[in-house]
Amino acid sequence: MPQDTIAKELIELLRNSREQAKFLGELGVENVALDSSTDQNAVAPAAITSTAPTAARVAPSANPQPALQAPRRKTNPASPSPANSLFGEFAMTAPALAKSNETLEQIWLDIGDCTRCGLCEGRTQVVHTHGNRNARLMFVGEAPGADEDAQGKPFVGRAGQLLTKMIEAMGMKREDVIIGNVNRCRPPGNRQPTLEEAAICRPFLFREIAAIQPEVIVVMGNTALRNLLEEREGISRVRGKFRDFRGIKVMPTFHPAYLLRDPSKKRETWEDLKMVRDYLDQTI
Ligand code: URA
Repeated sequence: MPQDTIAKELIELLRNSREQAKFLGELGVENVALDSSTDQNAVAPAAITSTAPTAARVAPSANPQPALQAPRRKTNPASPSPANSLFGEFAMTAPALAKSNETLEQIWLDIGDCTRCGLCEGRTQVVHTHGNRNARLMFVGEAPGADEDAQGKPFVGRAGQLLTKMIEAMGMKREDVIIGNVNRCRPPGNRQPTLEEAAICRPFLFREIAAIQPEVIVVMGNTALRNLLEEREGISRVRGKFRDFRGIKVMPTFHPAYLLRDPSKKRETWEDLKMVRDYLDQTI
């Protein structure tokens, strides 16, 4: 290889390493190796910031066959929702997620200028799922906040900026993943959507998931956890272990807005995200 090419690659490697180190620092995980010496899966900062595995994972955005495009599952095993009464009359009915050929536009057309629940009264606009439709990895949050309501895209405010850093710390770009919410309209005062509001809106998210077929979904916070997994326990108890949503792997973790309020939870979140990153690395 010509020397100037090697030099260019080394400079690029260094630049990427610095960027990732910065993100990890901002996530509060710069001392991962020191604090995780007994953890078999712990990765030293130097290893985390190495760009070699990252490059293998990350799709060049312009590439129509990105590395992040999912090797599709051969089967879509039926995985019935656990029988529980968490949602009462709003319980889920469909046990398995059939692969769908719907486009996101078709789903959004169906949503239309939605008035199916009262959240429509306070919203500026409906905020749809946004990102790479070939993504292997999807993030699901709760509902739009003020910034998302104004801009029409999920996770563009402070929590969204932290989410971007989390994604980048995993060695990906925001454009490589897809991001959605259980509810698409901003609840007044950013309150949690009610069970009924969530139950009315989530079928559209499920249809999008069936169309996108991500390999892993990271559910962030209690609303996403409850609505995808019908889980009674809170996020602190169930985070960090892979679960199943109708044949798709799900990692529950803290919501970035919660991390802004309690930064001490960033370390656990990072552990969860590393598991997702390692799983995606292994299955590529
Ligand atoms: N919080 C969420 O749950 N979703 C957003 O889109 C923004 C903040």
